[in-house]
Amino acid sequence: MKHILGVSAGYHDAAVSVVREDGEIVFAGHSERYSKIKNDPKLSIELVDAAFNFKIDTIAYYERPWMHNLQQLISREYNFSSLTVHDTLRQHLGADRIKGRTLTAFPHHLSHAAAGFQTSPFREAAVVVIDAIGELDTISIYQASYNKDNQAQYEKVWGQRYPHSIGLFYSALTQRVGLKPQEEEYITMGMAAYGDQSLIHDMGEYAVADYFNAEFYENFHIGFDPDKFVGEDNNNIAAAGQWITERLIQDIMCKAAHLTRSDNLVYMGGVALNCLANQYLGRYFNDIWIMPNPGDAGSSLGAAALAHGRPLRWAGPYLGHIITGDYPVDSALECLLRDRICGVANGPAEFGPRALGNRSLLADPRGSDIKDRVNDIKQRQRFRPFAPVILEEYASEYFDLPGGFGSSPYMQSVARCLAPDLYPAICHVDGTSRVQTVPYDSPSGIRALLEAWYAATGCPMLLNTSLNIRGEPMVNDRADADRFENEYGVRVVS
Ligand SMILES: [Fe+2]
Repeated sequence: MKHILGVSAGYHDAAVSVVREDGEIVFAGHSERYSKIKNDPKLSIELVDAAFNFKIDTIAYYERPWMHNLQQLISREYNFSSLTVHDTLRQHLGADRIKGRTLTAFPHHLSHAAAGFQTSPFREAAVVVIDAIGELDTISIYQASYNKDNQAQYEKVWGQRYPHSIGLFYSALTQRVGLKPQEEEYITMGMAAYGDQSLIHDMGEYAVADYFNAEFYENFHIGFDPDKFVGEDNNNIAAAGQWITERLIQDIMCKAAHLTRSDNLVYMGGVALNCLANQYLGRYFNDIWIMPNPGDAGSSLGAAALAHGRPLRWAGPYLGHIITGDYPVDSALECLLRDRICGVANGPAEFGPRALGNRSLLADPRGSDIKDRVNDIKQRQRFRPFAPVILEEYASEYFDLPGGFGSSPYMQSVARCLAPDLYPAICHVDGTSRVQTVPYDSPSGIRALLEAWYAATGCPMLLNTSLNIRGEPMVNDRADADRFENEYGVRVVS
């Protein structure tokens, strides 16, 4: 059968996705997992080779190169690339790979939208895309549906453009609190819980001209004014920026609900990873779908979806490199009961930034010492919380899940932790947890491991964090898992 290769490359976190002509997503992976360079903007040869194991007929690029160059000119980044799709794909894949194949490119925000809508369970939806900048677009609202021929249709009903950008504001905030923009936004989000509300008013006055249209006084592409908030506590700056971001997002969601009159939300773009803000989405929509790789890497799947035109079959985010063999339930359980910490590397790697059971460092969440032990292994800031992974049917006993998501299989929203004193390792200082719920039909063996753990201990959840060596991307293959074992002395079972 024929296959479509979707490509996202050249800026940050290069990725590819392969869609079969019947709509099956047969492979999707991040370049960084192969090259070991975090957020690698270039396509790794190994990743491309893995994609070309399938019979590729069409190659779809996630944005239009000529528009990318225009954006670079206007935003004064001057990171120019080739102007044509042909030259761009030749540069990323090599002349031999593109020869004789149909080449195409789609608008940046439309690729985000399609990665969401065409993997969603919906026949119609409001699609909201919020990122930093893509071809000068920063926010897009689409009305999406399928026509009688099952072809996806997207009508853009509202948009915001550079320099007004929630994503750029949050990246500037991340830089202002001493972290790496476009990479460590999730740490800014964690810091916000430690801050107070003292700077919200001043930051709002400084930054936001119009909440409902997400218009800013400043171009945050060049960062915060260095004379602002001098001497203020970074946690308070993060808290104010997070609060403002949440209000901006809520106003956009309110607008999207009003303009589309849809009860279904598909939410995409890098800002959709802000799981603190996502707890409020249920105020505006009954049902919510965020494809678990909503950033530009996930747009490789969006470009392939647009070339395909029809719905894709979404079976889960386990789409990458496969470590073969049955999920090691017995050995992982034995390891957890003995050591309380165990790595698992099995099956297809997760497509997206979060470890969801196939490349996970797991631990017993009970008691007060485990957080420090895992933090010591991960060598990361002590304030950062760990996430729980729990049997879905027990989630409501331990967490108050927000409306709109139903369950939380991809850790996309925070939930209120109902027993923070019993499980301090997986409850943040603000009393929330980034919960992964695991349903009966999960394609990951983490379900069977959780069942075995529950049978042995009476506790239906584990602490779950990504399996990676400090400074490196997530473990991809067994050789990476062996390096992890040697580096940290923690067993990794496959
Ligand atoms: Fe984007």
